[in-house]
Amino acid sequence: MSNYTDIIASCQGKKGGIIEAFHAIQEQYNYIPEEALKEAAKHFGIPEAQAYGVATFYSYLSVEKRGRYIIRMCESAPCHVAGADELLKEMESILGIKVGETTADGKFTLELTECIGQCQATPVITINSEPHFDVNKAKLAEILASCK
Ligand code: FES
Repeated sequence: MSNYTDIIASCQGKKGGIIEAFHAIQEQYNYIPEEALKEAAKHFGIPEAQAYGVATFYSYLSVEKRGRYIIRMCESAPCHVAGADELLKEMESILGIKVGETTADGKFTLELTECIGQCQATPVITINSEPHFDVNKAKLAEILASCK
């Protein structure tokens, strides 16, 4: 029995159960590991290729390994004007990764996002969907340090 068995079993028999299972797995692991994909395919009685197809069809699901903390930099115009680019460079330099990558220790993944509707406090980043406002270099260092 793997770590995913309970999650997958709890979604069995439901309409769209495999999608629900993938959501729950991603919520816990921040991505859908290959082992979970295989197990889901077996449980839901579909070929692995089809399970993979489901997991890659939805942009909010990821089959790529991602960090415990997913940092997203807003790249829409108001944040851009407020210095998002410079902040992004700072993050890349501190973490030693580029956008779309994950740190070797599996802690951080860096991604971009469109406006999240908080343009009154630009630039904005989110960490595991929690927004941080008016981020500057000093604040960024504090935020990253708080990620244990
Ligand atoms: S443009 Fe960044 S939150 Fe709106």
